[in-house]
Amino acid sequence: MQLIAGNWKMNGLRAQIAELEALIATAPPAGAALLLCPPATLVHEFARKAAGSHVRIGGQDCHWKASGPHTGDVSAAMLADAGASHVILGHSERRAEHGETDATVKAKAEAAQAAGLVPIICVGETLAEREAGQTFEVVGRQLRGSCPDSGQFVIAYEPVWAIGTGLTPAPDQVEAVHKAIAAQLKGGRRILYGGSVNPSNAALLLALPSVDGALVGGASLKARDFLAIAAAARAA
Ligand code: PGA
Repeated sequence: MQLIAGNWKMNGLRAQIAELEALIATAPPAGAALLLCPPATLVHEFARKAAGSHVRIGGQDCHWKASGPHTGDVSAAMLADAGASHVILGHSERRAEHGETDATVKAKAEAAQAAGLVPIICVGETLAEREAGQTFEVVGRQLRGSCPDSGQFVIAYEPVWAIGTGLTPAPDQVEAVHKAIAAQLKGGRRILYGGSVNPSNAALLLALPSVDGALVGGASLKARDFLAIAAAARAA
């Protein structure tokens, strides 16, 4: 069973719960578990709506502390209390816009685990790094610095240059990086691919043996597209 996770980023008002309702109303896809990560303001309402269904709800970030003087931040315990099961951490947009380092991502992942959430830790190279032949070195370093030493977590390999651009790496490039990640983590971790996954390319990407699912941005905003991607998942 693959995991198809939707990352709504900073999109979504309460009225968009209609998209979640459409997901819930559709029979569970044969090959995929569905996770939707709306903005923090919608997590509670979405989790209530999804309770008892085949759709789970996650957050997009959390603080590394459980509570305290951190104005504007949301803790993992708050997300769990609101009904989240997962939290995306270290997304390239957070690394770029909020200066998140591997060390902060690791601390956040540990806080998420302590609150009972499954962290989805994002790694991926920029275009300059890929062109300089540094992809494996960069991803390896991010993994070493960002992953907790134990406990459950999921990796999302998201090449920065593929996010929101319509570009995706060639299948053999995805395979090569996923295999390197699996080797470094000594197996046993779910590794999602993310970056411009859409209904047209999902079957190709999700058929790759080393791909355990997808982290979907833009195409997760519409239930119809998200379901089309999930329908391409393979049950094995
Ligand atoms: P995208 O975003 O599918 O819109 O490229 C993926 C992500 O950033 O998680």
